[in-house]
Amino acid sequence: MDTLKIAVLPGDGIGPEVMAVALKILGRMAAKNGLALETAEADVGGIAIDRHGKALPEASLETCSAADAILFGSVGGPKWESLPPKEQPERASLLPLRKHFSLFANIRPGLLYPQLVDASPLKSERIPEGIDMVCIRELTGGIYFGQPKETTTLPDGDVQALDTMVYRKSEIERITEVGIRTARARGKRLCSVDKANVLETSVLWRKTVTDYVKANAPEIELTHMYVDNAAMQLARDPNQFDVLLTENMFGDILSDEMAVICGSLGMLSSASLGLTHNRFDLPYGLYEPAGGTAPDIAGKGLANPCAQILSAAMMLRFSFGRNDLADQIEKAVRDTVTAGTRTGDIAFGGKSVGTEEMGEAILQRLG
Ligand code: IPM
Ligand code: MG
Repeated sequence: MDTLKIAVLPGDGIGPEVMAVALKILGRMAAKNGLALETAEADVGGIAIDRHGKALPEASLETCSAADAILFGSVGGPKWESLPPKEQPERASLLPLRKHFSLFANIRPGLLYPQLVDASPLKSERIPEGIDMVCIRELTGGIYFGQPKETTTLPDGDVQALDTMVYRKSEIERITEVGIRTARARGKRLCSVDKANVLETSVLWRKTVTDYVKANAPEIELTHMYVDNAAMQLARDPNQFDVLLTENMFGDILSDEMAVICGSLGMLSSASLGLTHNRFDLPYGLYEPAGGTAPDIAGKGLANPCAQILSAAMMLRFSFGRNDLADQIEKAVRDTVTAGTRTGDIAFGGKSVGTEEMGEAILQRLG
């Protein structure tokens, strides 16, 4: 491996600011390790609507196809909120990207350093050691993509909307495999979340996960939880979880709940891994911070770049197989933050630094 080909999609709001910092860090890591960084930037989201008339232009898709991985910023903002839902930047870029590249496995770490417990809305005595868990969400199936999906006017004049929730056993097995691998690298505990007391898809989900883990990973401690209870347990005692495994819509909701209890969206990264492999025979993937475009602080140089940097670290880990480099970046971010260099979102009213200064402090630790 000598050249890392990365499609860079900064998007809207704080996306370009935090992306610039993440690219600096990637550049430093590449230079230090004899790697060439080949980045190709493309428009996505609101800015792509403004420039090209659609949130995910063909040219951007081509840029992504030519790369080994996608580093994504964030999309959306007040300017495009009045567009019809189907054309909104988030939905019209992320969902087609997921489908196009079969990005079926969404990995969202829920990590809160012990030094930052006061950033969490949970009482600090509930999480004295911070939070350390991972949510694995199935990303290309379920009610998001099931067909039919339509709104019709009925003969009696009433209007009816329909979404279809559908899962195949094979889709459940492949995401379970990701859950198992994640759990193996951590606490070896997997909690599968469903609504098997009501939904057919959940009955199949629970049976498939149970059989698959039994046959392929008997060393993993598997438990099951209904989604309503899981939402409650996350707020009550998040550290009872090691790895959460769930379907698309439940994962959308639970991962946001997990994000908020982890204090700041500015610290949370994510990976969406695809079925296809890149030039290194590693999963092609899209890497993006969990937070949004933060329009209130966009353009002010105040945004926390850590989530974007940690997403770049996940990219090095999963799509380039460089756990060593990912570990170094994650450690540098942790050390910088715990030593007290912080952006406003995690400074608790104390002294805070801007986006660039935060990046410089992390760069310094990387040497
Ligand atoms: C997410 C987002 C997306 C989703 C939206 C923007 C379509 O909420 O990535 O969690 O629902 O998956
Ligand atoms: Mg969401």
